[in-house]
Amino acid sequence: MLKVERVSSGIPGLDDMLSGGIPRGRVVLVVGGPGTGKTILCSQFLMSGIKDHDEAGLFVTLDESREHIVREMASFGWNIPEYEKEGKWIFADLSPISQAGTGTKPAKQTIGKKEFSLENVLDSIRTVSRSKAKRIALDTVTSLAFQYPDIVQRRSVLLEFIETLSSTGATSIMTTELRTSGLERSVQLEEYLAHGVVVLQTLQVGKSITRVLQVEKMRETPIDTQMRPYRITENGIEVYSRESIF
Ligand SMILES: Nc1ncnc2c1ncn2[C@@H]1O[C@H](COP(=O)(O)OP(=O)(O)OP(=O)(O)O)[C@@H](O)[C@H]1O
Ligand SMILES: [Mg+2]
Repeated sequence: MLKVERVSSGIPGLDDMLSGGIPRGRVVLVVGGPGTGKTILCSQFLMSGIKDHDEAGLFVTLDESREHIVREMASFGWNIPEYEKEGKWIFADLSPISQAGTGTKPAKQTIGKKEFSLENVLDSIRTVSRSKAKRIALDTVTSLAFQYPDIVQRRSVLLEFIETLSSTGATSIMTTELRTSGLERSVQLEEYLAHGVVVLQTLQVGKSITRVLQVEKMRETPIDTQMRPYRITENGIEVYSRESIF
């Protein structure tokens, strides 16, 4: 049998739940509630690629501006501008408040112009073949997906996304907001279409609130499907893959 090549996620503990890592070239959806660490996870995935595996990364940001991300991730000791200069970290800032060009121009509104913004995103992803990025993070697809209330249309848009990401050969993580939570949450459309799904949420366990990570699916991979606790520390996200929450 052909051995599946795996890409380390860069998140301590997570690879153990994935039989070693994400299958190379696949698209993993990270579904998470507000403040659960979606943006940190994306950055950590790219940072680890650069530092530990000499793989360049593309960060497509659709919600937060480049400036915000750079500032927030500096608190983990990740110096993004340094790697941008070396061409190892590439930003595609498609956030509505991005200050394109000079940095002094007023915000360019992309919201509401579906074709425009969707094509923009797909174009940014396609530049990856030129930039040679081996990892892509896309944070978040929520606002884009919501521009298509029609389920059939949304499905085809999401599929186009996943296809485009896959076709670059890079290993990708895309995030989306968790719309229902708890132990019996309902599954979102994106989760059926992605190759892998990781869910981040906060749960009440006994009297305390705990952050939990669950690998819901990963094609070509035997997975640990238990909910495992995780923490966000000054080093980023760490999953306690041997601890049980109950
Ligand atoms: N330096 C730090 N040390 C520990 N925890 C931190 C640090 N910086 C941020 N956090 C935690 O990380 C969380 C934010 O992470 P992140 O921005 O990745 O979440 P998110 O899921 O992307 O949020 P949003 O839904 O707002 O986009 C905060 O709620 C905070 O608890
Ligand atoms: Mg975020």
